[in-house]
Amino acid sequence: MDYFGVIGNPVSHSLSPRIHGLFAEQTFQELTYEALLADLDGFESTVEAFRKTGGKGLNVTLPFKGRAWECATDRAPRADRVKAVNVLRFDAGGQIHGDSTDGIGLLRDLATNGLEPKGRRVLLLGAGGAARSVLGDLIDGAPASIAIANRSLTRVRDLVALFPEGGEGLAACGFDELAGQSYELIINATSAGLAGEPLPLPEGLLAEAGGCYDLAYGAGALPFLDWAERNGAAKSCDGLGMLVEQAAESFYLWRGVRPRTAPVINALKEEQAR
Ligand code: ATR
Repeated sequence: MDYFGVIGNPVSHSLSPRIHGLFAEQTFQELTYEALLADLDGFESTVEAFRKTGGKGLNVTLPFKGRAWECATDRAPRADRVKAVNVLRFDAGGQIHGDSTDGIGLLRDLATNGLEPKGRRVLLLGAGGAARSVLGDLIDGAPASIAIANRSLTRVRDLVALFPEGGEGLAACGFDELAGQSYELIINATSAGLAGEPLPLPEGLLAEAGGCYDLAYGAGALPFLDWAERNGAAKSCDGLGMLVEQAAESFYLWRGVRPRTAPVINALKEEQAR
């Protein structure tokens, strides 16, 4: 029996144990997967204790993705690109491999929902860890352009500077500069919804037949998804599908087996609706 888990603070709300349980059942893999709460100053020691007792891999959630990047001994290029790690694999010989699967998770769920960034004018809201972890893959998705709006201008300019490959098509702005602009795909990567705070988004921001996506799921996504509906979004989704897709990519990294995601997304949606 191999041991896996998700480490975070807080972590008790995490759907990852349920998702990986469903993946294991579907693919006939024998493994256990638990939620590990780490003290804010005890991330590294909790990881090390888990590894020493035979743990084979961990998903990493807030607020530890940057520290997981530091504790990996080798990293996938896509993790180095975003300076964050959401999956660790403990290899023979003590190597700790770090990867970032959030971006590919988002791109796969956007595609499932007909919201591919390709050719679209994209607006990304937020410039924190969540926005950074998906920006590389969004650029690779070949949108017409990406504007990133954030409350703190310094922070959004720093984020854009990390991705010179975005070129002229990648621009930073404040929320007050959004008036008069319109976008075909708006992605919310702020934590405003989780705090129940509204975003200052002007009328007309969403182009006709445009789509909206919130990286959060459940209650945290509701304020932005309500805004999307009020503003005529042709399609809007929360981040549950992305969560399952990033988990599937982690599962593949650990087990070499790719689980089917659609039945797991559907099962979770049904459970959440109950
Ligand atoms: P995460 O890892 O979830 O991205 P974070 O790094 O703390 O968390 O970033 C939170 C993001 O949500 C930031 O972009 C933050 O804006 P600032 O950089 O200006 O702080 C954004 N955010 C949080 N509350 C917000 C609000 N009420 N209105 C607008 N943006 C908000």
